[in-house]
Amino acid sequence: MFNVQYSILKAQYVPSNENLKARAEFQDKKFGIFLHWGVYAMMGQGEWVMNNRNINYEEYAKILGGFYPSQYNAEEWVKAFKEAGVNYITITSRHHDGFSMFYSKASEGYNVVEATPYGKDVIKELADACAKYGITLNFYYSHLDWHRLDYPLGNTGRQLGRPTDRQNWQSYYKFMNDQLTELLTQYGKIGAIWFDGVWDHDGDAQPFDWQLEEQYALIHRLQPSCLVGNNHHKNLVPGEDIQIFERDLPGQNTAGYSGKMEVSTSVPLESCQTMSDSWGFNITDTHYKSAKELIQMLVHAAGLNANLLLNIGPQADGKLPAEALKRLKEIGEWTSQYGETIYGTRSGLVTPRDWGVTTQKGNKLYVHILKLADKGLFLPITDHKLSDGRLFKDGTPVKIVKSKAGYLLELSEVPTDIDTVVELTVD
Ligand code: GLC
Repeated sequence: MFNVQYSILKAQYVPSNENLKARAEFQDKKFGIFLHWGVYAMMGQGEWVMNNRNINYEEYAKILGGFYPSQYNAEEWVKAFKEAGVNYITITSRHHDGFSMFYSKASEGYNVVEATPYGKDVIKELADACAKYGITLNFYYSHLDWHRLDYPLGNTGRQLGRPTDRQNWQSYYKFMNDQLTELLTQYGKIGAIWFDGVWDHDGDAQPFDWQLEEQYALIHRLQPSCLVGNNHHKNLVPGEDIQIFERDLPGQNTAGYSGKMEVSTSVPLESCQTMSDSWGFNITDTHYKSAKELIQMLVHAAGLNANLLLNIGPQADGKLPAEALKRLKEIGEWTSQYGETIYGTRSGLVTPRDWGVTTQKGNKLYVHILKLADKGLFLPITDHKLSDGRLFKDGTPVKIVKSKAGYLLELSEVPTDIDTVVELTVD
């Protein structure tokens, strides 16, 4: 009987009004910072080091005694993000290594407060700073686990020395739900829970039932406005409020993770990307994208109606890498001037082109020219009237010539800015 009722419930995920409002606000925010921070930062080889180097699960725990981020200052982080024009932060509360970076009774001591000499809840400090500066806090949460014995083994974490006779899905599922309850009751209002790792069981002969919908319902019960996203690289599961594209813009599959995904037209979209080539701090990865590339990434995402979640891997000492801070500063200079053409917009009348994208807010159309070899740009708009063309940066008028097939924007010179934005009025 219970099962029958539950399956009816499952088919009927209807987002609450608070949730729908939060979705629109999420879309307005456009720009978030992703933080992969864990004890693995001490080894400087990214967040997969435990699995990649087959570190025995008991040996791994020996690094905990050295975790003391003496330079960590959550307010400084948040201020640096805020000045860059960032509106939300998504931080790893617990990554695949299974270590909780927050105070978690459910973790039975395996958390930053109880197992490291630092002894303080780094997430709480961040939550307080976010509240103070008006930044939304979201939590990344790993479905897969390389530490616990009750986690039903999947494709990864098989060489870490764990006994295999203690696997117990019911126990592990309860643990996760207890932790989610902690995350949604200990830190005030949370913008989103960002899941990752379901793909660990993609290779199973029998499809693995993660009981996602029940878990999503728990989240929505605890905080109706909290958005649920899952980096499972598949189409949306009922109960999910945002769609995530890993290292890809929606509709593109450059990184190879999004091949099985249809771009949703019903929920907000988010593209997560790395600033360097790594998620967690990687001491040999100095391959940072240029500020121009990162700004253009944000603009491209906005033109595709998506948010950009840009990753930084903080160091073990609690500092953000200097290179990342430099990029943030440069991005901030751009967003302080052009933010109006990005925040609160939706994708514009003209779909993305080789030259760039369009965004729109009310009757303002913003044409973002990222790469153009000519002094003129053609917009194939026939069912709307365009007027009042001007360069967004200084108001210089841009002549608009109408033809049967659309409008030609006449520019006074070939655009060379990171993003030459032409503002137009649409009727
Ligand atoms: C992948 C990785 C993970 C990272 C995530 C970010 O799923 O497993 O380490 O956190 O991508 O998108």
